[in-house]
Amino acid sequence: MKIAMIVAMDESGFIGKDGDLPWRMSSDLKRFRDLTTGDGFNAVVMGRKTWDSLPDSYRPLPERTNIVLSRDSSLQIDGAEIALYDGRAVEIGYSEGCDELWVIGGAEIYDLMIQRCDEIHVTTVHTSVDGDAMFPDWDRSQWAEDVIQENVSSEHDDHASTYSIWRRI
Ligand SMILES: NC(=O)c1ccc[n+]([C@@H]2O[C@H](COP(=O)([O-])OP(=O)(O)OC[C@H]3O[C@@H](n4cnc5c(N)ncnc54)[C@H](OP(=O)(O)O)[C@@H]3O)[C@@H](O)[C@H]2O)c1
Repeated sequence: MKIAMIVAMDESGFIGKDGDLPWRMSSDLKRFRDLTTGDGFNAVVMGRKTWDSLPDSYRPLPERTNIVLSRDSSLQIDGAEIALYDGRAVEIGYSEGCDELWVIGGAEIYDLMIQRCDEIHVTTVHTSVDGDAMFPDWDRSQWAEDVIQENVSSEHDDHASTYSIWRRI
């Protein structure tokens, strides 16, 4: 099972503000959906706060096993599996027979899971936001970047962006 991470960050590494995304980037949400859904045998792993941030109509994320990390052993969520520690999230992915396990945030969960990931799919949003959640500091010298696509802003996307994949060297 492949374990990958997907994140959109501004040029300083900010990913969120007030429990939400600090931009409207429709094409990035479509890319997120397509990549994480894949052939329909994938899982997404997220922190409880990111789960809470999803609109009711979007959760659970369809056609994917939804895994929510929480330390609250009494938490139950319709449509999602609860993992009380990071290794449990990976175990659930294996036990569900998933092809790919996608770590989808937020900041605490990126920090928790980055050492388990072989690929990080980054959307760099070309702006500077006044955020309160940030992608963790990571040693980029251990990773190689492959720039996939440059995108301009549009009526659906607030800012220009760059898609890249970082793979462990
Ligand atoms: N730009 C992006 O790509 C992107 C992606 C995702 C999210 N975001 C943004 O990121 C922000 C949320 O990030 P966040 O860091 O505040 O929260 P988060 O990582 O989504 O969730 C944090 C929660 O995860 C659980 N948790 C953390 N460490 C754990 C561990 N070791 N074992 C078990 N459970 C653990 C805890 O849940 P309990 O409190 O229930 O114990 C904790 O409160 C929002 O603004 C969201 O919009 C941005």
